[in-house]
Amino acid sequence: METDDLKEEIKRRADLAAIIGQYVPLQRSGRRLKARCPFHAEKTPSFIVDPEKGFWKCFGCNEGGDVFSFLMKIENLSFPEAAERVARMVGLEWRGRPVDAAKTERRKLLQRALNEAAEYFESRLGSGVGAGAREYLARRGLSEETIRQFRLGYAPPGWENLGRYLSDKGLGMDVLREVDLVRAREHSGGVYDTFRNRIMFPIVDAAGHVIGFGGRTLDPDDPAKYLNSAETPLFRKGRHVYALPQARQAMGQAGYVVLVEGYTDCIALHQAGFQQVVAALGTALTEDHVRLLGRYVETVVLAYDADTAGQNAALRNLEVFERAGVEAQVLALPAGVDPDEFVRAQGLAAWEKLLEKRLSLAEYQLEMVFSRYRDQGEQGLTRAAARAVNVLVKVQDRVRRDDLLARAADRWGQGNPGRTAAMQRTLAMEVARRAPQGPSRRHNPARDMQFVEQSLARRGEELEPWRLSPGLDGRLAVAGVERQLLCLALQDAEWCHRLTTLLAEEDFSPGPHRELAGAVFAHRREAAEFAPHEVVENMPEEGGCRALGVELLLGALPEPTEEEILPLVEKLRRHRGAGGGQERYEFLEEEDEAAEELETVESFETLRARVVPALSRGEISPDDPDYLRYCRLRRKFHGRGGYQFLQPNGPLGGRETLKETDEGL
Ligand code: UTP
Ligand code: MN
Repeated sequence: METDDLKEEIKRRADLAAIIGQYVPLQRSGRRLKARCPFHAEKTPSFIVDPEKGFWKCFGCNEGGDVFSFLMKIENLSFPEAAERVARMVGLEWRGRPVDAAKTERRKLLQRALNEAAEYFESRLGSGVGAGAREYLARRGLSEETIRQFRLGYAPPGWENLGRYLSDKGLGMDVLREVDLVRAREHSGGVYDTFRNRIMFPIVDAAGHVIGFGGRTLDPDDPAKYLNSAETPLFRKGRHVYALPQARQAMGQAGYVVLVEGYTDCIALHQAGFQQVVAALGTALTEDHVRLLGRYVETVVLAYDADTAGQNAALRNLEVFERAGVEAQVLALPAGVDPDEFVRAQGLAAWEKLLEKRLSLAEYQLEMVFSRYRDQGEQGLTRAAARAVNVLVKVQDRVRRDDLLARAADRWGQGNPGRTAAMQRTLAMEVARRAPQGPSRRHNPARDMQFVEQSLARRGEELEPWRLSPGLDGRLAVAGVERQLLCLALQDAEWCHRLTTLLAEEDFSPGPHRELAGAVFAHRREAAEFAPHEVVENMPEEGGCRALGVELLLGALPEPTEEEILPLVEKLRRHRGAGGGQERYEFLEEEDEAAEELETVESFETLRARVVPALSRGEISPDDPDYLRYCRLRRKFHGRGGYQFLQPNGPLGGRETLKETDEGL
């Protein structure tokens, strides 16, 4: 057969779905099968396999091809290697010329050495020399069946057992050294067995090849409790996990996998009947690990010992998971108990119950942040909130992030809806400002933190009620109206839209009000999604624009009715139409508000003359709005020692007069 014909014949005979199905859990979808793509991170399946036509394709990442290209990609094989492998499966021989025959030969040799070593260790465990090891495994509660399933073995004591055995089988020392089954002696030349007097755990890759070993010593004085094969071309600890072949099917069904630290933890759970579990290989979790697991599951549950460094290592991994598009969850084990001990002592039901309480990694980190600051009062809560932002910005999925954000706000709000809402807006704004996909801006962590704390400190300020009391100076009232309308525009997409049709930015006073109005109206008209925090975020700091935005974005927003708002809009338009608003005024600082009110001496005096006698005659009550306004103005004038600002010959006269009045009240 010509090469091309042979290739077609192999393809025709190969069971594409079965081959791909070894790596990816496929779901039937009509004539085709689908799965989540093994070559890129995705949450919903866009990877399809068409067994009849003999091709696969991912609509997400546009990868696609035939059975050969699938194996080449997923196993990192050359074409001849892939062709050879499929040919063998379908009972044909690949006679195409491998590009790198020498390399393939070498790999086969390494694989053979490892597999023969695994067989050797298994046979030793079953022999006389393995009696102690068998006893040890029995003491740990491992059954014969489990031992067979995981191909557990025993490396006997002595320096030259395995080396001799394998060289008798024709394997060269260079091969054995390359896969770290023997190591070179430093001085005398020659080699010695790497693993001695150890329980052996073969590590098997997705394709079923032994790629390395973990060995647990039986010698209590051995400083290395576990010894793992060194990295070899076949064995990369950062790319493989323990027990993948045993866990694969259950993982696909469960949709998640539990990642434990120890071989024995993993095996004990399998034996107990819990199969969606794999173990790390004594290294930190890498992005490759997460991607590997992400081929089979959407979620990885980290079940690390609560009080080891492993726990902390896991917690630093949020970004790794986010990048791979895999959800990370944390299973909190009782301190000092590993999964092996837990399931042996408490059984499968207790384990599964524990598993129900798992938290997402981000949620877990938020819990940790809040519990760390729990006893530090209000300030601690605010600090925790500021740190919560650090967790939230790493969460890329918007829906999930908003959900977490709401939880953090709840924790902070402590049952007070106003507090919770204020926190929610602060966090949203801060997250938007710092999220990686947001506008790139340099962040100074200390300043960012400060910003959140300051924003939160402002939360208590209630805005004025919707209805303004008439009678005061027009300019003050206008500032108040503008503030309320801006607040509404920043907090309510619907109203923002209506306001853009009713008002122009020129209707607002020059300065921060007008700038903010211009920005939020433009945003409402142009942006696809209403994100007012982005408007605030982009306001310049100069002139207090941004501060105003923050304040109004966070200000408490009473739900207004049309009857309340439309008159305000009307008022603003009339004011502008009458030529108002030419001058710029500052209104955010109380001082400036008071300064404006100082110009209203006339009305203050009229007010006083009206309300004070009316009150003393019992015609109005102390909570009469006019009387309250009078009190507020009086406090301001008084607090500022402001008599000299009053007209010296005005009807109010001197200090004494007010004092008298004061006492009279
Ligand atoms: P543990 O010390 O928690 O071991 O190490 P374990 O699994 O509970 O073992 P037993 O129950 O005492 O037999 C967890 C994992 O860390 C790696 C191994 O991968 C081990 O499974 N490790 C531990 C090492 O690589 N070297 C060591 O010396 C210890
Ligand atoms: Mn243990």
